Amino acid sequence: MIALGCDHGGYELMQEVIKYLEENHYEYKNFGTYSKDSVDYPEYGKKVAHAVADGECDKGILICGTGIGISIAANKVKGVRAALCSDCFSAQATREHNDANILAMGGRVVGTGLALKIVETFLTTPFSNDERHIRRIHLIEE
Ligand code: RB5
Repeated sequence: MIALGCDHGGYELMQEVIKYLEENHYEYKNFGTYSKDSVDYPEYGKKVAHAVADGECDKGILICGTGIGISIAANKVKGVRAALCSDCFSAQATREHNDANILAMGGRVVGTGLALKIVETFLTTPFSNDERHIRRIHLIEE
């Protein structure tokens, strides 16, 4: 189950992500926002972060205007590793190296085509399970 969250700056791109998830038969839970009306991104970042940290959802996708504010908010929640990505190399590396459990993107930064490739990369790339990466992830949590 994938947790979704966005603010007004990410709303339009999130509608494209939802279409992609539905076409590719991914299950998701949408924590909002549900319109283009102005809202506060920390609320949505934290809702998704808690859903992932509590195990209700396996992964999350967050979108605000830049992806910055919403990823900062999500990363305040223990156990969350939210990675802001604007390219596929980073999306692949953050899964393999950081076992990132939330993907963040900027709706005013990346176009739809690239964003959907980033989503695909993030959702299909497994964690490497390399000892050195496991060690470093544990160091983050200390
Ligand atoms: C909202 O205008 C904007 O500040 C927000 O979407 C995000 O970019 C914050 O980091």
